Amino acid sequence: MNTQDSKELVTRSRSVEQLVAGQETSDGAGVRLTRVLTNHLQRRLDPFLMLDAFGSDNPDDYIAGFPDHPHRGFETVTYMIAGRMLHRDSAGHEGLLQNGGVQWMTAGRGVIHSEIPQQEAGVMEGFQLWLNLHSSEKMIKPWYKDFQDGELPKLVNGDGVSVTVIAGDSHGVTGAVTRDITAPVYLDIHLPAGSRFAQPLPPGHNAFLYVYRGEATVGGQRVPSKRMAILANDDQADGVVIETGVESKVLLIAGKPLREPIVQYGPFVMNSEAEIYQALSDFRGGTLGEAA
Ligand code: CO
Repeated sequence: MNTQDSKELVTRSRSVEQLVAGQETSDGAGVRLTRVLTNHLQRRLDPFLMLDAFGSDNPDDYIAGFPDHPHRGFETVTYMIAGRMLHRDSAGHEGLLQNGGVQWMTAGRGVIHSEIPQQEAGVMEGFQLWLNLHSSEKMIKPWYKDFQDGELPKLVNGDGVSVTVIAGDSHGVTGAVTRDITAPVYLDIHLPAGSRFAQPLPPGHNAFLYVYRGEATVGGQRVPSKRMAILANDDQADGVVIETGVESKVLLIAGKPLREPIVQYGPFVMNSEAEIYQALSDFRGGTLGEAA
């Protein structure tokens, strides 16, 4: 824990460019979820490719889980707010993701994995973020790490706002994961009623927040519960200031855009169609998830 005062770190906050409700959908073997960051926002929110929010106390919505499926060319970050999910992959990794834990997986040249709920009742709630890799990194060796809640760096500011630093830096606290090229910041911010939190952000980095409890005010605009706010890349702004009158929970996600072609076919995200055909061919030929 680190106690910091967030005031005056940001002299001018970014404004809200757009509010997004996301799309109700299902994925895996029938897991109901809200796709908050959809395909058509991939360019605007480069280097982020997808954000799914799942949350239900009805086992029918989650019990089927995500049986074996491949990934290539990007990273997945799964943040489990509540519930238990078992991960297994072709590289021989296995891990139980539960209450407040994070799994960071760099698919690189290829992983085949499954994500299966380990509960038959109760609440399952969390998020999965997809973070793109630079062309020079799309075919790197897969990497994976689980972080239990207690292993994630946290800070508390002078307003009593508590922040879990999943990625990047916040108020001198370095997150569980850092990345040189995309420089992702991923914060889970818990704000008491009547509090304020400031996070410096470079103007060129794309950023958004998602309010999953309560509501927030950013640059004078109210962001209701279950909404994503895309933050404007205002040259005059040196960060974002989040304020709230009620107890709230907010994810803040930002990163440096790659500005490369994005070609996605389902679970493969590459830079060209030829690379997608190669991924399909490797998957069908059984070599995509092979340790090499
Ligand atoms: Co997956």
